[in-house]
Amino acid sequence: MKDPRERLVVALDVGGLDEAAAFVDRLGDLVLWYKVGLELFSAAGPAAVGMLKEQRKRVFLDLKLHDIPNTVGRAAGRLGAMGVDILDVHVAAGQEAMHGAARAIQQTCDPASRPLLLGVTVLTSTAVGEDGQPLSAEALVPEVVLRAVSAQKAGLDGVVCPAAAAPDVQRQCGADFHMLIPGIRLAGGVKADQRWTATPASAVEAGASWIVVGRPISAAPDPVAAAQDILTQIEGL
Ligand code: C5P
Repeated sequence: MKDPRERLVVALDVGGLDEAAAFVDRLGDLVLWYKVGLELFSAAGPAAVGMLKEQRKRVFLDLKLHDIPNTVGRAAGRLGAMGVDILDVHVAAGQEAMHGAARAIQQTCDPASRPLLLGVTVLTSTAVGEDGQPLSAEALVPEVVLRAVSAQKAGLDGVVCPAAAAPDVQRQCGADFHMLIPGIRLAGGVKADQRWTATPASAVEAGASWIVVGRPISAAPDPVAAAQDILTQIEGL
């Protein structure tokens, strides 16, 4: 049975390296995976990845690359060479950009330890569709599936997607295509800016390879107890 810690990625959404290191230290062996996102990377840069690697943690570097193919490819190569375990690029950047990122990783990284490359489909905070109308699940799911198929075609290893679309993505793309699911909330928890939320267990049951959890742990009165509670909820699934 899979160690539940293999599935939990804790978002290090903090403003500096010292704060990040103190949080990682506090959570100790309970958490194996961390997400470095725009805030921490903007504040601390590659040192944030270095600190986590020194602590033998696995790293999802969530910079959601979205630019012209040449720039996305070159940036992905640089980021891959930092030794991170997962990187992501927006599917909306297009086939050529995604393919460029996949190729750059192949060229710059050892195949045995290269990062997995995921495509961001639709942000879990998206409340309004392209037509300006409130986004319904009926509209969300086909859009996510379309983008997941596009990511798979470009040679990506999986997608970042809302839990609501995960069963359809898996049906369409197969069980080996990874799904990383953010927007995780405990039953009755505060949604804040997230729209497409799911509990830890429902996201794992929907097929998540990993769940990404930020505020339900970082803003909890006792983050260690909150992380332990989430691990207990997904244990054995
Ligand atoms: O605090 P909360 O649990 O909402 O944090 C979710 C984390 O997952 C944030 O760091 C956010 O950047 C990230 N994320 C997301 N939706 C995506 C991709 C990443 O919420 N599609």
